[in-house]
Amino acid sequence: MTLSVICGGFWGDEGKGKVLSYLALKDNPSIVARAGVGTNAGHTIQFEGKEYKLRMIPSGFINPEIRLLIGAGVLVDPNIFLKEIEETKCKNRTGVDFQSGIIEEKHIEIDSSNAHLKGKIGTTGSGTGPANQDRAMRTLKLARDIPDLQPYLTDVSVEINEALDEGKIVQAEGSQAILLSLFHGSYPYVTSKDTSAAAICSDIGVGPTKVDEVIVVLKSFVTRVGTGDLPGELSIEEIKKRGWVEFGAVTGRPRRAAPFNYDLAKKAVRLNGATQIALTKLDIIYPEISKSNNINQIKGDVEEFIDSIEEATNTKVTILGTGPSAEDIIDLRENI
Ligand code: IMP
Ligand code: MG
Repeated sequence: MTLSVICGGFWGDEGKGKVLSYLALKDNPSIVARAGVGTNAGHTIQFEGKEYKLRMIPSGFINPEIRLLIGAGVLVDPNIFLKEIEETKCKNRTGVDFQSGIIEEKHIEIDSSNAHLKGKIGTTGSGTGPANQDRAMRTLKLARDIPDLQPYLTDVSVEINEALDEGKIVQAEGSQAILLSLFHGSYPYVTSKDTSAAAICSDIGVGPTKVDEVIVVLKSFVTRVGTGDLPGELSIEEIKKRGWVEFGAVTGRPRRAAPFNYDLAKKAVRLNGATQIALTKLDIIYPEISKSNNINQIKGDVEEFIDSIEEATNTKVTILGTGPSAEDIIDLRENI
């Protein structure tokens, strides 16, 4: 287990931030590298009574031993990056790849006013789509062009590959999720880039032969923000009744919701080549395991639900989320 890739299995907001922050504490990686699209992601991390909603800094920041990197494939908004550096106090251990793309004010303006993007697709308005458009046009500024980012610049691919050669543990932090993939998702209601485990590797400059584990994060129910089909979508009243109400970490929009979907779970495992499943928010469906770390509580309906997912996907569920904090996890990895 030297390189693990952590990716989203549905439409984002599965709880990647929580799983990543747990793994950062538990597995003590040398590096956590942020991959994915950019500031359209909001990873929520609760730790020691504090809540962080991070859009740039890797979720592993809660472990002070870890080097934090942002890959060349990721779009950096310097304002948000520098604000989060202050908030997390990680100035001396954070690196941005020379070739990360830069989101400028003009990208945010287009993304939050354009009728197609804001209206039809329902984007987060963070500027990522228009910035990726400029990147494809090869007119986008890169991190190396920005004076404020000079202290952070590094070659992320070199750092990661050297760490792996030394047998160190590295975690690759995906953002968004597979059903938002520009290639494999519910086009056109998707984000502006591929979001698969393979894309995550590409974002941070590691080849596919280096990957040991791909952990796909699935939530115990399915949510979606923005437009596009959501199979089995529940009414707002029903979402409230079930206690599944959530709001987008970036936009504050209420999330649409549907029950767990086995076909989508199979698709997520296939497209990411997942070797493990992290199942989050199990406590929302089964309050009896709220905040538990106890393997013995996996019985009855909880056990049946997990078994049904493993059977459908032919993949082991190894990590269970039982509450919002990084410590609210049942870790089954040693029992496999
Ligand atoms: P964009 O990525 O901001 O261009 O938005 C395109 C679609 O992806 C919209 O439906 C967004 O709501 C969705 N999206 C993008 N990033 C995230 C995320 O991190 N979580 C959930 N949905 C996202
Ligand atoms: Mg999110």
